[in-house]
Amino acid sequence: MKVLTVVGARPQFIKAAPVSREVRKVAQEVLVHTGQHFDANMSDVFFKELGIPEPDYHLGVGGGSHGAMTGAMLARLEEVIQQEAPDWVMVYGDTNSTLAGGLAAAKLHVPVAHVEAGLRSYNRRMPEEINRVLVDHLSTRLFAPTETAVQCLQAEGITRGVQQTGDVMYDATLMFLPRAEERLDRLAELGLAPGEYYLATVHRAENTDDTQCLTSIMEALGELELPVVLPLHPRTRKQLDAFGIRLSAGIRLIEPVGYLEMLLLESRAKAILTDSGGVQKEACFLQVPCVTLREETEWLETMESGWNTLAGTDPERIREALSGLRRPERPSMAFGDGQASHRVAKSLSSGIA
Ligand code: UD1
Ligand code: UDP
Repeated sequence: MKVLTVVGARPQFIKAAPVSREVRKVAQEVLVHTGQHFDANMSDVFFKELGIPEPDYHLGVGGGSHGAMTGAMLARLEEVIQQEAPDWVMVYGDTNSTLAGGLAAAKLHVPVAHVEAGLRSYNRRMPEEINRVLVDHLSTRLFAPTETAVQCLQAEGITRGVQQTGDVMYDATLMFLPRAEERLDRLAELGLAPGEYYLATVHRAENTDDTQCLTSIMEALGELELPVVLPLHPRTRKQLDAFGIRLSAGIRLIEPVGYLEMLLLESRAKAILTDSGGVQKEACFLQVPCVTLREETEWLETMESGWNTLAGTDPERIREALSGLRRPERPSMAFGDGQASHRVAKSLSSGIA
């Protein structure tokens, strides 16, 4: 069996780390990197640190508008899929690379396996929501991380090929946390003490592309009583420069970090403030309270377990959310048992959904 996997953006490299290992036990995997993320600290670092095999193809498609990027990926992926003639094309999550992989395969009648199927924000202004809906509707095998995701698919009439596997990001956290713990010295190097800083990430288009939202978030972060470490996504850096937003001294801007350093920073933070899907979940896995800088989340279980609170971008609401944070007694059990990647591979090889 041959599985052609399409990745391109940071969270997809992290998801592919545990899944690729399992898939390669049962199939030949052809790994395609679209090039959507291309800086060394947005791409190479994950391949090196997490032992992800070198991509067989690198399409070099990065930057540009949604249409230009997705179109260029489609054209290149079509060629590669035709050349490799895989039994499955596997895609992850909800980026433009996911859509291009799913669409190219479906048009060539190659079955699509979607890891992280069934996520919904019900906000069609998010490019990711459009990507998710389309890819779920053209997939043959849908690996849903949670019960909620299965229900969202059911509500859209998708029941065939759906399997609740657990969350492959939970697998990744369990797999790499011990190595992250070995880097404890890094906190001191950054001048940070455990429990005495906040960690923030901001990159969602709706927050970064609107000058008011971005200004408001930075104002809120700048007013906190502890230092705020902000590993800055290149999109956000560009927008801060373009809008001429100046940051207060309490915000420690750093370059995007590798996954091991990120897990360490997350696990020792007093709380996390983020608009990232993956970081919300990791806060929950690591039992660190989280304030989400959005009006909705696809990951309802993080809120139901009490570890996550929605606050949008208004400084007053963010302050209130932070002061109201609690530490629930239990972690969330909604994300599986750390064996999601194994189930994905087994399902593909057995042909059973
Ligand atoms: C993309 C995904 C988003 C995901 C995020 C993960 C889409 C529509 N969005 O958003 O769902 O949460 O990745 O991080 O696919 N850039 C660089 N260097 C890089 C990567 C990006 O300079 O290594 C620049 C690009 O040139 C572009 C901007 O950052 O100007 C945004 O990149 P893009 O891949 O379009 O979207 P993300 O915001 O990263
Ligand atoms: N991440 C990382 N370094 C960083 C910021 C994030 O390794 O500087 C990891 C984070 O731990 C999580 C993933 O990247 O595993 C989340 O990706 P991102 O926030 O870019 O995208 P999203 O999950 O919102 O799609």
